[in-house]
Amino acid sequence: MEAVVLAGGEGTRLRPLTLTTPKPVMPLAGRPFLTFMLDWLARHGVDDALLALGYKSEAVHAVLGEERHGMRLRYLIEEEPLGTAGPLRLAADEGLLAESGPILVVNGDCLTDFDLTAQLRQHEATGARGTIALTAVDDTASYGVVPTRESGEVEEFLEKQPGPAPTNRINAGTYVLDRSVVDDLIPSGRAVSIEREVFPELVGGGLYGYKFDAYWIDIGTPERYMEATFDLLTGHAQSELPPRDETDSLIYDASITGGARIGPLSVVGRHCSVGSGSVVERAVLHDDVRVGRDASVVEAIIAEGARVEDEARVEPGAIIGAGATVAAGGVVESGARIGPGEHVG
Ligand code: GTP
Repeated sequence: MEAVVLAGGEGTRLRPLTLTTPKPVMPLAGRPFLTFMLDWLARHGVDDALLALGYKSEAVHAVLGEERHGMRLRYLIEEEPLGTAGPLRLAADEGLLAESGPILVVNGDCLTDFDLTAQLRQHEATGARGTIALTAVDDTASYGVVPTRESGEVEEFLEKQPGPAPTNRINAGTYVLDRSVVDDLIPSGRAVSIEREVFPELVGGGLYGYKFDAYWIDIGTPERYMEATFDLLTGHAQSELPPRDETDSLIYDASITGGARIGPLSVVGRHCSVGSGSVVERAVLHDDVRVGRDASVVEAIIAEGARVEDEARVEPGAIIGAGATVAAGGVVESGARIGPGEHVG
């Protein structure tokens, strides 16, 4: 079975991290993010994934290659961003979509383990033209809200609209579509939004919701990236990560942390060093990060190759871009964003 993975967005909300590493291969608990998603797809029978990419596509290709655990990985590269539906049209035009059978489409920024097989089954049982996976969230503001009828048919598709929502069920970014949806509703040659153009058009014409209550999170903001990290570390989100220590932290190979206090809920990537007397708490260090002595990094993300010198402090919510440096005794205040290569005195 084939799946199209939409992974060409710029990931602006995750800047400065995405200025150097595109979201699909951003380390999440030390693993390129998309590998979690590809493994989930494989568990549901997908053996061929077409990755629709644009922004920093070479970096994604370089990390993921042509194959993962027997799953074929193919690449569709957009010269201009084609939005969340345009890539399907391009894939069809280039003969990359199967001619028959339903098309599985996933947003490439969700961590989930819901029962995709059941969604496919429901799609067939109802004879739908499109079936959208729906999850329940507390705050619907940044999602597409999708009320459904008792039959499962979608009543309305309300993309990121202000005001009170009629339901807390939102678009979880996984769709099963009939080939006719691509052929009839997605024009060629321009960016098309599946949420704003295709789904509203399909309401009343065979668009159904598939409700699930399993784990689901989209990692598109720093807050949710951290939440997903903590969920993986505690095992609240299932994964095949290496075992965590007694503080629910994960320290990868070839990192030196003797004399430092790491944890709880922290990730230390490969080839990092954290000096004695330093504290890393509820924080994420990507690979090759160096933290000096008596420094503290709390509830922050530090990208690859960055340095935090002796006695410096990185406060909650801060993000330090790749290769940036924080001078000895320097303070990166709560919520600050330090760009790649920048120097904080
Ligand atoms: P923000 O800039 O932070 O909103 O992130 P984003 O660019 O990833 O946008 P968003 O989270 O809304 O996108 C949802 C999914 O669609 C992500 O997996 C994106 O990679 C993907 N996506 C968004 N726009 C495009 C596009 O033009 N082409 C492709 N192939 N994928 C896209």
